[in-house]
Amino acid sequence: GTVVLAYSGGLDTSCILVWLKEQGYDVIAFLVFIEDLRAEFVADFIWPAVQANAIYEDRYLLGTSVARPCIARRQVEIARKEGANFVSHGATGKGNDQIRFELTCYALYPEVKKHGIPVPVTPRAPWSMDANLMHISYESGILENPKSHAPADLYLMTKNPEDSPNAPDVLEIEFRNGVPIRVSNEKDGTSEESPLGIFSYLNTVGGKHGVGRIDIVENRFIGMKSRGIYETPGGTILLQAHLDIETFTMDKEVRRIKQGLGIKFSELVYNGFWYSPECDFVRHCISKSQENVEGKVMLSVFKGQVYILGRESPKSLYNEELVSMDVQGDYDPCDASGFIRINAVRLREHHRLQGLASTT
Ligand code: ARG
Ligand code: SIN
Repeated sequence: GTVVLAYSGGLDTSCILVWLKEQGYDVIAFLVFIEDLRAEFVADFIWPAVQANAIYEDRYLLGTSVARPCIARRQVEIARKEGANFVSHGATGKGNDQIRFELTCYALYPEVKKHGIPVPVTPRAPWSMDANLMHISYESGILENPKSHAPADLYLMTKNPEDSPNAPDVLEIEFRNGVPIRVSNEKDGTSEESPLGIFSYLNTVGGKHGVGRIDIVENRFIGMKSRGIYETPGGTILLQAHLDIETFTMDKEVRRIKQGLGIKFSELVYNGFWYSPECDFVRHCISKSQENVEGKVMLSVFKGQVYILGRESPKSLYNEELVSMDVQGDYDPCDASGFIRINAVRLREHHRLQGLASTT
């Protein structure tokens, strides 16, 4: 039979490659870093995550989780084209990646057989990395002790904020349909308009100023906790900018519902269910919510932080006259007294009953 192996060039997938050949298989090694999937990774996977403000357990921006369905989708395309009936990957049997690869393959290529390869789970020295356009993750090895600090030279994508420049970079990011369509920086004359150009530039600026480092303990789908260190410079800038333009242009109640969908989306993606009916549905609703999310956000990137400076939008729901302390606008302050008293009905009852309980 023929096997399409998602080959990273790392130790595990190199062993698997040799092993498969020894077993007599024809192996097609699919090198994700040679097959340039970056433009479609940004447009088809990172942009939906930006629209969703995707974040797992309040901190992790899902850089590995969104890459797996992208890689597996291409792997399946190749397998179909080559008439291969097996696919293979190098993820250990103890993590999330195995689930993400295999669920995607079963969803997109139901006839496929997966190759079960016994890769020993050995301690990795000094740690294991997963690097892609969106982030680098570091896990296992010496990092498995959750108390031990990451060595200073671990980070490859971001500078230590202690050594980052003493002057900020000021950016303007323009959004349409909840995704960035342009980033510019007057200082260095940059103006990027392609998805890949925008994301790569934000990685460069974020990396230079040490933006987007986190060190967390997270819950894997299979039930164990794991310690991970991540750097997601461009994604962190975009999350802040998108949150700002979204709140500026989106109705309050729509925003609340959409926020819940974003949490659901993040869990589905983390757990490997990108290609599922429920994730399709959630992505569709989120994308609908983004129709008016457009405009420009001005921000400064400095010493590991993103500072929002201002925003403007043709779709803004902000009414300067309505909110002004100096103008009455179309609002009668007398209405507020009744509104507050009605809201207090419940609070007074609650305290009255509490008072009764404490005297009996
Ligand atoms: N814990 C993260 C996740 O589940 C990162 C996994 C990193 N994968 C790897 N093969 N090193 O998304
Ligand atoms: C792996 O198992 O290959 C890495 C860890 C994970 O997938 O969560």
